[in-house]
Amino acid sequence: MTDLRDEAATAFQEIFGRASDGLWSAPGRVNLIGEHTDYNEGFVLPFAIDRRTIAALAVRDDRMLRIASAFTDELVEHDLTQVSPDVLHGWSAYPFGVAWALGEHGADLHAVPGADIYIDSDVPVGAGLSSSAAIECAVAIALDDVWHLGLDRAVLARAGQLAENTAVGAPTGIMDQAASLFGEDGAAVFLDCRSLESRLVDLRLAEAGLAIVVIDTGAAHDLATGGYGERRASCERAAKALGVAALRDVRVDDLDRARGLLDDTTFRRLRHVVTENQRVLDVVRLLATDGPASIGELLDASHRSLRNDFDVSTPQLDLAVETAVGNGAIGARMTGGGFGGAAIALVPEELTSLLRVAIDGAFAEHGLEQPDIFRVAASIGARRDA
Ligand code: GLA
Repeated sequence: MTDLRDEAATAFQEIFGRASDGLWSAPGRVNLIGEHTDYNEGFVLPFAIDRRTIAALAVRDDRMLRIASAFTDELVEHDLTQVSPDVLHGWSAYPFGVAWALGEHGADLHAVPGADIYIDSDVPVGAGLSSSAAIECAVAIALDDVWHLGLDRAVLARAGQLAENTAVGAPTGIMDQAASLFGEDGAAVFLDCRSLESRLVDLRLAEAGLAIVVIDTGAAHDLATGGYGERRASCERAAKALGVAALRDVRVDDLDRARGLLDDTTFRRLRHVVTENQRVLDVVRLLATDGPASIGELLDASHRSLRNDFDVSTPQLDLAVETAVGNGAIGARMTGGGFGGAAIALVPEELTSLLRVAIDGAFAEHGLEQPDIFRVAASIGARRDA
């Protein structure tokens, strides 16, 4: 992290020929539980991880926004007064989309100064760990700061989501940005996606001798195309057929009645969302009463529901989860949108090496590319670093 910050400051100097005014950073996230519930106005329980995106920034005397990054050699620039979703494409749609979205949330893009920005990151891309939200939130807090907007973090989260939905074209919910902005060391963020009220929930992993391990299957997921939008549309159809504002309003007890009103596929989508919301509430309660060792079965149940009812798992994710649970994990599940990406396992600390070997072995046996396996710690959210 220190290295990444130094590298970002040095790269900024090389590219823009002057020192940056400051460094801001925002983390990726792991979702502990509460998958595909955010756009149904339900509950989620993600935490910010110890992998971050850095934005080095210096303001300019004019209205140009110029953005460079470690991802490509390309330096992209737009006049702030001309930035709109239809002129944006590629990786730069994330940071420019945020500048535009801040304009939609009250920043006067005809009055604020331009800026030079350099972005670097150690959040794995395409793993379902919200590398895109990390970019959005790092840029959002940096611009909020130097433009003296004083927007609260829920508004910054909405701006990040608007950028992603409109400039990037991925119809995602609010969870990733909220996790990146509200995270704290050692805690998960319990978020009500309807009211955006959030509360920190202590994970107490070290106390319980447990670790959370990410298994990145290397099969990149893509939320801007296909399946994710389809799932979202079928949830909206279900809500309409049941006469509720969002699936958040359906309870586990209502499922029997709902079955007769929906086709089988739509009913399974509904059942996932409704039971997953309940699992989030149960995990929040259990963490406070019995600690993290007690949530394993709920993680497993979440995975089964995502696999069988929501149909967003993959053979690689299933293999990672099965192998983890068969080799000492207390619970495991895919995390993030699915269709590829990563799984997480809750494991006794002393078994993490064994788990790694077992998963490597299982993937090799199935002729699959070796996954990237690493521990994550719940970490502080977006902030100014220097
Ligand atoms: C992606 C989206 C989130 C959320 C998850 C699924 O990460 O960006 O908004 O919908 O998928 O829980």
